[in-house]
Amino acid sequence: MISVAVSGAAGRMGQTVCAAVEGADDMALVGRADPQLGVALQDVLGDADVVVDFSRPDSALGNARACLEAGVHCVMGTTGATFEELRGVGEGNLFVAPNFAIGAVLMMQFARQAAAHMTESEIVELHHDGKLDAPSGTAKRTAELIRDGGGNVHEPIHSVRLPGLVAHQEVIFGGLGETLSIRHDSISRESFMPGVLLAVRRVGRLDDSPVVGLENLL
Ligand SMILES: NC(=O)c1ccc[n+]([C@@H]2O[C@H](COP(=O)([O-])OP(=O)(O)OC[C@H]3O[C@@H](n4cnc5c(N)ncnc54)[C@H](O)[C@@H]3O)[C@@H](O)[C@H]2O)c1
Repeated sequence: MISVAVSGAAGRMGQTVCAAVEGADDMALVGRADPQLGVALQDVLGDADVVVDFSRPDSALGNARACLEAGVHCVMGTTGATFEELRGVGEGNLFVAPNFAIGAVLMMQFARQAAAHMTESEIVELHHDGKLDAPSGTAKRTAELIRDGGGNVHEPIHSVRLPGLVAHQEVIFGGLGETLSIRHDSISRESFMPGVLLAVRRVGRLDDSPVVGLENLL
């Protein structure tokens, strides 16, 4: 059994992760940390093998540092940190994904592939109006992959924030007399759960740290 504590447990993602962990046969939910619940991360670290953090861009790095210092593996879904900041968190096993949905990972990989053949592109990302950071971590990662693939992402990345949305992204490539659109839609937060549970199972056996991107575990 893997003992899992959730940081940001009262949030939209945190609540969904708690339910997913409780539903997994090989995991036990041992703690719910969140200022809204009056429970500090330090109070749950003693019981956990792994902490899953879906908190806020301004708290995630400190939370990850506290986990690693306590010898607890950390799976981070909170977006906003750069790779350099993640590398500076410290010794231990840290896994981070800007997007835990399998379809979103495929969208990013297809975009990288397309960029080699259709170099000009724009990214439109659309999220619920409670999202704190813009552009999204997924959009920034997609732009990196497109550039790695030889493409050019026109600035700015477009960020739409509206009630009713969950997490969506469209990458549009333009060529001579044609366009190609690659679109992914997370229509519920459950879309992220298979990826989160996979990361919880694998974070104790990483070859390197931090590892960024679900594609590294697939
Ligand atoms: N990687 C992914 O696949 C993915 C998917 C969806 C959302 N996200 C990211 O996850 C994060 C959380 O999103 P959300 O929609 O659940 O937000 P949310 O605002 O609903 O929840 C955040 C929770 O964190 C709590 N919190 C605040 N400070 C904290 C601290 N210091 N320690 C622990 N918890 C703290 C808040 O009280 C709140 O309950 C955001 O950064 C979002 O972009 C990532």
